[in-house]
Amino acid sequence: MLVIEALEKSYNKENKVLKGVSFDLAPKEIVGLIGASGAGKSTVGRILANLEEGDAGSILFEGQQLVKMSAKKRRLLSKDIQMIFQDPYSTLSPRMKIRELIEEALIILRLEPDKNKRLDLVKEALELVSLDSKKYLERYPHELSGGERQRVGIARAIVCNPKLIIADEPTSMLDTSLRLELVALLKQLNEKRGTAFIFITHDIALTQNFCNRLIVLNEGVVVDAGRTRDVITHPTHEFTKKLIHALQTLEAREDINL
Ligand SMILES: Nc1ncnc2c1ncn2[C@@H]1O[C@H](COP(=O)(O)OP(=O)(O)O)[C@@H](O)[C@H]1O
Ligand SMILES: [Mg+2]
Repeated sequence: MLVIEALEKSYNKENKVLKGVSFDLAPKEIVGLIGASGAGKSTVGRILANLEEGDAGSILFEGQQLVKMSAKKRRLLSKDIQMIFQDPYSTLSPRMKIRELIEEALIILRLEPDKNKRLDLVKEALELVSLDSKKYLERYPHELSGGERQRVGIARAIVCNPKLIIADEPTSMLDTSLRLELVALLKQLNEKRGTAFIFITHDIALTQNFCNRLIVLNEGVVVDAGRTRDVITHPTHEFTKKLIHALQTLEAREDINL
């Protein structure tokens, strides 16, 4: 479905943020993109979601080249690749009701001209993220908990029925128990709708039962890649070993707390 080759990006002359990133994704696959803060993970996500442009390299999405594609063509494809962000506060306008927030995606992308059909799609998206539409449609973001707001963010992404969702640290603002719930929800969406995911995180623990494969990004290059269990049991790069060591010491600490 997606083949990224030698993707490069700089924000200024001195500092190349992506130095030739390559990886691919099969339909319905869940890939974890992990790495320390500043590694370039969000930059990869934003380029894929058409929020930014790559400088060089190739991104083939279902055979179509996204790098340097015309804005109009990119817009047509943007329904297929949606992004979920870390902080639901900053992406949900406080003056809009949940119904309007989710419907907006359909209106902007001109996906459904019929108002009643749009409402049906909004309700379906809310039910898919386990929010009772009768209860939530007319509420405002400030009337929801952090976990509920994150679900609304996901409903907004899935209402367009995308083929790929890039989830950029969607759990980092949530408590531990809610993190696992959210990952379970994404997994359910993957099973029910066949949505592929690029799950961006620095929390390797969360990827263990969720991601089919892991890509480890360090300072703008892929340093490790493979099936999740293989990467965790046989890391090749020093940086990946450090991530895994941190995970093990964290688990050890949690064991002591128990
Ligand atoms: N809009 C921007 N302008 C300048 N530098 C940026 C911008 N966005 C990101 N960067 C820099 O690019 C690098 C990678 O950032 P990012 O992709 O956000 O990393 P990650 O998501 O892995 O933490 C960082 O050094 C960051 O400071
Ligand atoms: Mg980031």
